[in-house]
Amino acid sequence: MGEILGLGVTHYPPLSGVDDNLTAVFRNALADPLLPAELHDPANWPERARQEWSDDEGRAAGREHRADLLDGFRRARAALDEFNPDVVIIWGDDQYENFREDIIPPYSVAVYDDMTVFPWRHAHDSSNMKGKPNVWGEPEDTKRVVRGNRAFAKHLVESLFDEGFDLPYSYQPLHHEGFAHAFLNTMLYLDYDRTGFDYPVVTFPLNCYGRKVVSYRGNITPLGVERELDPPSPSPSRIMDLGGAVARVCAASAARVALIGSSSWSHSFLVDKNSRLFPDTGADRRMYAALEAGDYQSWRDVPLADAEASGQQELLNWWALIGAMEALDRKPSYTAFAPSEIFVSNKVFAIFEEPRP
Ligand SMILES: [Fe+2]
Repeated sequence: MGEILGLGVTHYPPLSGVDDNLTAVFRNALADPLLPAELHDPANWPERARQEWSDDEGRAAGREHRADLLDGFRRARAALDEFNPDVVIIWGDDQYENFREDIIPPYSVAVYDDMTVFPWRHAHDSSNMKGKPNVWGEPEDTKRVVRGNRAFAKHLVESLFDEGFDLPYSYQPLHHEGFAHAFLNTMLYLDYDRTGFDYPVVTFPLNCYGRKVVSYRGNITPLGVERELDPPSPSPSRIMDLGGAVARVCAASAARVALIGSSSWSHSFLVDKNSRLFPDTGADRRMYAALEAGDYQSWRDVPLADAEASGQQELLNWWALIGAMEALDRKPSYTAFAPSEIFVSNKVFAIFEEPRP
């Protein structure tokens, strides 16, 4: 009988940079010529945004936000080390990195061997790190080895067929060397203290960006840019079914499996009703309350259109995790909400431990 640990984390790209980088997205949004005039005045911002921006343009708040995130990552890492998994499965989004015009799978499994990655060479575009120092001061040619678990990845694909999911898989990257930032950053941040990260990893990309994956390249666009949309992503409830199927396959295996859903919650640059300046914190708070209560039906009931309007496209990675925890009837043993209005998104951490006998 397999054992499972569930973890919810973020892969917030600016965390790789130094503190001055944390408000870059917000400052760019403020400089958008189409931003409604009243939003240039902090008096018209949400109270939390005003407090964070303060009189130092968010510097002190940025340090605090980083400290909150490090606390979450260190707790998640401690739980992971205590669990000592045979394999770590990560659900993450692909923001026009590995998957582009020639194929957009709704979800897929990367069946990779051990892979040498160059985090800073590869993060130029996908993490907007080009020309910026990373917080660890690592040189451009820094390399890391990410261990694979090809046998388990193949077993997962094969078994998911029996669960009603005909799953695309790949033996090598397509358009992005190494791993898309959702996966790479998750590993880099779980190893923030640079003690090493030697657990075998199987990455499980989800098409979170759906209608905006190719049209907007899953990325930031100035106000007024309207493009012909792509077909949608799978719905939250379909992704929960997929997560549940993965949990059943893992539980029936002989392995110790860590399941990680990785993403920040509502993203400011996807929330049109907030002029792409602030995240939809109200929607995030409602999802968080349901998470804390173990009320997974509320997660299941969210229509895709609501998730899109709230800029919660990437939350599909968490929907997969919540679907897995629903299937295991597992409530979180730890949750934390790291709020933010000016650092792109609210972030959440959650740990779902095996119940102790
Ligand atoms: Fe992402």
